[in-house]
Amino acid sequence: MTLPGSSRFQFTADLSVCRILNGMWQVSGAHGAIDPGRAVNEMFAYHDAGFTTWDLADHYGPAEDFIGTFRRQFAARHGAERLKEIQAFTKWVPRPGRMTRRIVEDAIGVSLSRMGVECLDLVQFHWWDYRDKSYLDALKHLGDLQREGKIRHLALTNFDTDRLGIIADQGLRIVSNQVQYSLIDRRPEIRVASFCREHGVTLLAYGALLGGLLSEKYLGRPEPRRPELNTASLQKYKNMIDAWGGWILFQELLAVLKEIADKHQVSISNVGVRYILDRPAVAGVIVGARLGVAQHLSDNARVFGFELDGGDVAVIEGVLAKSRDLMKLIGDCGDEYR
Ligand SMILES: NC(=O)c1ccc[n+]([C@@H]2O[C@H](COP(=O)([O-])OP(=O)(O)OC[C@H]3O[C@@H](n4cnc5c(N)ncnc54)[C@H](OP(=O)(O)O)[C@@H]3O)[C@@H](O)[C@H]2O)c1
Repeated sequence: MTLPGSSRFQFTADLSVCRILNGMWQVSGAHGAIDPGRAVNEMFAYHDAGFTTWDLADHYGPAEDFIGTFRRQFAARHGAERLKEIQAFTKWVPRPGRMTRRIVEDAIGVSLSRMGVECLDLVQFHWWDYRDKSYLDALKHLGDLQREGKIRHLALTNFDTDRLGIIADQGLRIVSNQVQYSLIDRRPEIRVASFCREHGVTLLAYGALLGGLLSEKYLGRPEPRRPELNTASLQKYKNMIDAWGGWILFQELLAVLKEIADKHQVSISNVGVRYILDRPAVAGVIVGARLGVAQHLSDNARVFGFELDGGDVAVIEGVLAKSRDLMKLIGDCGDEYR
């Protein structure tokens, strides 16, 4: 399998990414046991298939260590020169409190050492409480570390439009904001996406597959009970479906997606990812990868082989129009964490 050129996106002048990023929350332990050896082995299959971009975080269990091991094995197999084919985007999610240079530098130092790099491709910064303005201090220190060559690009995750504005006013150059964005959660379209377009910031979307609920596996199925939802991701997005409109409306959506998928000879998941990739400001969709447990590489590759037409989008939007207004219910991007 080789992905077509349309699978790539020039994310920054120096970084081209695969538009489907491999999400590593799924190796954190909250989604079933992961065998480190098998997991790292499987990272080669993703890379060789063209899925060269990884999304991870300091708090996703062994994810940063997996990148470190993968890079070492990759260099041994292919030579260090080819390491530049791998893009690894981590996050820094500090506990709230004072943000001194020492705290920020130490945290970034840990990620550098775990991932085995001299410079982090991307640091996506998360902040839990906007009442504490120390996020601006943290970002200033991150900017200093960037100038010193420890970070290539600065990014955010789960930031809302108002805070994006405050950060832009400080003159801090942010390249992307990672947010929940799916057929059932289109809050980014309301404010964040237009801000991003105006300011040259892209969106990285997560949750597009609702932890796997947006697939044939759940089409026509009775509402799953809690014990069946055996990953943190399935539980998270089942709650989103409940807030959005409930299981009956979700089944209506899956039925419509199935018809569209059949027409294009792809899967329901493919339609869900394609829809988000086509939205303004979206650079990529992060799809969770339970490395060594379950794999959907050849199915996900099909996202790059078809297009949704106007009729498809109209039918989908007909169902989505029946849902509740999540912006009113939850608030802007990331407010679900605050
Ligand atoms: N910034 C944040 O706050 C935040 C929050 C959540 C997630 N994320 C990022 O986003 C990534 C994605 O996580 P997510 O929780 O949103 O999960 P997701 O991508 O919506 O769902 C991932 C699951 O979907 C299933 N799947 C994948 N491809 C499929 C296909 N072609 N057909 C059918 N099922 C398929 C797999 O389930 P099985 O494994 O059961 O087969 C996989 O584990 C995370 O790893 C993380 O990197 C970030």
